[in-house]
Amino acid sequence: MTQKLLTFVQDIARLLEQKPSESILLAEGKKLVATLVSSPEWLPEAFRKPHPAHYQQYLLYADPLDCLSIVSFVWGPGQTTPVHDHLTWGIVGGLVGEEREVTYRQRSDGGYSPSGEGVLRPGEVTAVSPTIGDVHSVANNLSDQVSISIHVYGANIGRVRRHVFDPQTGAARSFVSGYSNDMTPNLWSGVAA
Ligand code: FE2
Repeated sequence: MTQKLLTFVQDIARLLEQKPSESILLAEGKKLVATLVSSPEWLPEAFRKPHPAHYQQYLLYADPLDCLSIVSFVWGPGQTTPVHDHLTWGIVGGLVGEEREVTYRQRSDGGYSPSGEGVLRPGEVTAVSPTIGDVHSVANNLSDQVSISIHVYGANIGRVRRHVFDPQTGAARSFVSGYSNDMTPNLWSGVAA
């Protein structure tokens, strides 16, 4: 682990130890993530590799009690997620390139409509949670280069059984994302909680 990432893990662990309200956690956590993504050189090459067909989610750290995980998202040109939820708080920081987020709000008929859109550039941060808005889609905003963002969650996100949605009908399909770096024995990957 690089020193900058270790410092971040220590700082956010200290913040979580205080059991702050979600609003304080997100406000203070955003500052810590902004510091982490203020420069990109700390992220090792193994966690920057795109895949030609789909985005990559590399686990950087997960605590033993599933209260925190840190993931490097690597987007090839044009790659995108479906509309999905997280069921926990999450803070996202832009590291390289540009990440585009579209947030969704559920309609009275059960479907989902776009409620906002934004572009995350290096050093910028945003957040999701069931309280402030948990349903979105995310994509590489660049059509000709790789983008990378760092995602921090209040659970072991690769093990959380959550949902992708058909925005037209609201139909939900449950999924467990796992992680892309499953090539080594990894306590935190691929097992649904
Ligand atoms: Fe997401």
